[in-house]
Amino acid sequence: MGAVIPVRRPDELATMRRAGRVVAEMHDVIRAAVRPGVTTRHLDDLARQVLERRGATSNFLGYHGYPAVICASVNSCVIHGIPDDRALVEGDLLSVDCGAIVDGWHGDAAFSIGVGAVTPEAQRLLDAADEALAAAVARMVPGGRLGDVGHAVEAVAHRRGFDVIRDYCGHGIGRAMHEEPDVPNYGKPGRGPRLRAGNVLAIEPMLVAGDDETDVLDDGWAVVTSDGAWAAHTEHTVLVTDRGPEILTRA
Ligand code: MF3
Ligand code: CO
Repeated sequence: MGAVIPVRRPDELATMRRAGRVVAEMHDVIRAAVRPGVTTRHLDDLARQVLERRGATSNFLGYHGYPAVICASVNSCVIHGIPDDRALVEGDLLSVDCGAIVDGWHGDAAFSIGVGAVTPEAQRLLDAADEALAAAVARMVPGGRLGDVGHAVEAVAHRRGFDVIRDYCGHGIGRAMHEEPDVPNYGKPGRGPRLRAGNVLAIEPMLVAGDDETDVLDDGWAVVTSDGAWAAHTEHTVLVTDRGPEILTRA
C-alpha cells in the first residue's frame, strides 16, 4: 500500500490557502461571464487578469507546452480543451479547469456549468458531478482512506445513472501541480493510503453520460469521449483537518 501522503506544515498551508483563493476568484469571474456568444478565449483572458491582479502565476500555461491558463472543455470534451474563438452556444455544457501558483505553492480546481438553458439530461449530469465532488470531499477526514474518496465519486455517479472516467485521476498537490498519489474516481472503501490531518489532494470527479472510453484529439490535449457522450468535470484542492475537510479552492 506504500504511499504515504505528505503532511503540510501550517506555514505551507497558509500559502496554499492563498493560492486556493486565487483559483476561487478565477472561477467566480469566469462563472459570471459564461453565456451564449462568449468565446472560451475570452474566459481565458479573464483568468489571466485575475492572476495578474493577484501577483500569482499559472500552473497550466507552459505545462508540457499547454498554451493557456484555463482548460475549457465543451460537451463531449471531458478535460484539457484548449480555449479558442468558437462562441459558446445556448445548451452547451462547459467544464472550466484552472490553477494558480503563489510563492511556489499550487491550487487547482474545476467546475462545470450550463451555457444558458441546458437539457434536463445535461442538468442531471451537472448536478451529479457537483454531488460527486461534495461526497468525495466529505471523505477527506483523518483515518479515512483514499479508496473511500474514489468510491464516493463512483457511488454517486452510478446512483445517478452515469459512469466515471478511469483514464484520468485526481492527484496530490503542493509544490507541484501533480504529486503523488493518484486519486482515482473509483475505489474500494477502507482500502488505499490512510488520510491524515495536513494531507492535501486535488479531487476531480469526471462523470460521463455514456461509455467511459476516451480519445485525445489531434491538438494533443483535448480528451473527448469516444462515443460522443457528454461529460462533466468538477475539482477542488482539499485539506484534511482534525475539524473535517477544508476546501482550499473556495472563497
Ligand atoms: N488541472 C488539470 C488537472 O486537474 C491539469 C491540466 S494540465 C494542463 O490535473 F496542461 F492543461 F494544464
Ligand atoms: Co487537477
